[in-house]
Amino acid sequence: MEQNNKDAVVSYYDEIAGDYDESRFGNSYGRFLDAEERRILDRLLPPNTGERRLEIACGTGRLTNYATHGLDASGEMLARAKERHPDVTFVQAMADDTGFPDEVFDAVYTFHLLMHLEPSVIQAIFREVCRVLKPGGRFILDIPSRQRRQRLGHRQASWHGGTELSTADVRDLCGDAFTLRRSFGVLFLPVHKLPEGLRRTLGGLDFALANGPLKENSSYLIYELVKN
Ligand SMILES: C[S@@+](CC[C@H](N)C(=O)[O-])C[C@H]1O[C@@H](n2cnc3c(N)ncnc32)[C@H](O)[C@@H]1O
Repeated sequence: MEQNNKDAVVSYYDEIAGDYDESRFGNSYGRFLDAEERRILDRLLPPNTGERRLEIACGTGRLTNYATHGLDASGEMLARAKERHPDVTFVQAMADDTGFPDEVFDAVYTFHLLMHLEPSVIQAIFREVCRVLKPGGRFILDIPSRQRRQRLGHRQASWHGGTELSTADVRDLCGDAFTLRRSFGVLFLPVHKLPEGLRRTLGGLDFALANGPLKENSSYLIYELVKN
C-alpha cells in the first residue's frame, strides 16, 4: 500500500475510533449484522480449540473474542480493542505486511475490511494471509455481493464500502493457494427494519433464504477458504 494511502486510513480510523462502536453497530442494522456475523463465527471458530487465530483489521475488538492475536492499522482503534480483550496479543500493522513469521496461524479472519480496498491490495492481503497460515489453515472473510449490487443497480459513491465481489471473483483470488470450502449469505431481506419482535421471528427465514440457492443475492457473503 502507498504511504499516503496508509496515512489516510490510519488518520480516518484514529479520528472516528471513539464513536465507532455506537455509530456503526448501535443501530438496528448494525445490531442485526453483528448478531448474524456472530452466529456464523460461533460455528466456524468455536472456543477452546487451542488454535492460534489472527483477526486482521480487528478495529475496536468487536469480534476479537474469537482470536488469540489482533492486528489493525489504527492505534486508536487498537487502544479500544486492548481494553476489551486484555488476554489477546495486538499489533499495529498493515494487513498486507503483518510482520508475523511464516505459517504460524491456524486461522485468519477479517470483517468489514476488504470492501474498502482496491483489488490489488486485496490480492496482496490474500498473499500475506497465505504466508502466515499453516498448511490446511483457514481464511474467513466477508465481502458485499457483486450479484446483489448489480441486480439492485447499487453504486457506492466513495472508497468506503466501494468494493464487492462475486463467488467467482473469490475463487479467482484463491488461485492455487486456497480452496473455497463454504460460504454463508447474510441479510437477504431488510429484516433489520422490522420491529424487534417480528425481527426475531423472521430472522430464521432470512437466514434460510440467505443460505439457499439464491445465496448470492444476500447483501454480504462470508467465505471460509482453506490453505492448500
Ligand atoms: C470498518 S473497520 C472494521 C473493524 C472490525 N473488523 C469490525 O468489523 O468491527 C475497518 C478497520 O480496518 C482497519 N484498516 C483499514 N485498512 C487497513 C489495512 N490496510 N491494514 C490493517 N488495518 C486496516 C481500520 O483501522 C479499521 O479499524
